[in-house]
Amino acid sequence: MFCGPFTESLLKKAQDKGLISINIVDIRDFTQDKHKTADDTPYGGGPGMVLKPEPVFRAIRSLSPSKSTRIILTTPAGKRLDQTMAAKLAEEKHLVVLCGHYEGIDERIREQFVTDEISIGDYVLTGGELPAMIIAECVCRLIPGVVKEEESLQRESFNNGLLDFPCYTRPEEFEGQRVPKDLLSGNHALIDRFRRKQMLKRTLFDRPEMLASADLTGEDRVILREILGE
Ligand code: ADE
Repeated sequence: MFCGPFTESLLKKAQDKGLISINIVDIRDFTQDKHKTADDTPYGGGPGMVLKPEPVFRAIRSLSPSKSTRIILTTPAGKRLDQTMAAKLAEEKHLVVLCGHYEGIDERIREQFVTDEISIGDYVLTGGELPAMIIAECVCRLIPGVVKEEESLQRESFNNGLLDFPCYTRPEEFEGQRVPKDLLSGNHALIDRFRRKQMLKRTLFDRPEMLASADLTGEDRVILREILGE
């Protein structure tokens, strides 16, 4: 499952440049029976299979985590992943992401190793592989040098909790739709105000709850009143 996201594009280039290293560990390689059994039925009964402790303990120990290594379990019950969390994780030297199993993992694994539980959203997937790839992608792109345009990262952090503004490129007119005239004006103050207004407008209409925690300036409030008046 991890081939593709980790062997293409941004993450591939970052690995080639030696900026990050991604190590995929197959828990079944740490089983000791001929069927490579990594899960078993739950004590107490019930449906589904539970990830066994022995191979997971061995797999995690094979990574030689230090006392400060964060060991993340992907689970819909975890703390919701957001940009602030990704930025904190990007400061870590070594992260271990343990892909949860949809029916459960033996509780002793969580107690022994897990430092963080992360959910990628309020919905249930069958396994933690996709969440692990999403965590890796959004954390790795924040590591200096991984994304070429440093400026685009800066722009994201300067958005202070607002949705981004719309972008346009040539041609000036396409199928009757024109690029907004402020963007063609060459007047940077006008362009900045146009973009800020679009950010506020999009956030107000699409994600109004984000406005409550956004870092708004006095001018932003003036623009918001202008939007509401339109
Ligand atoms: N495993 C299953 N669903 C998940 C979710 N939404 N986030 C993280 N891990 C999961």
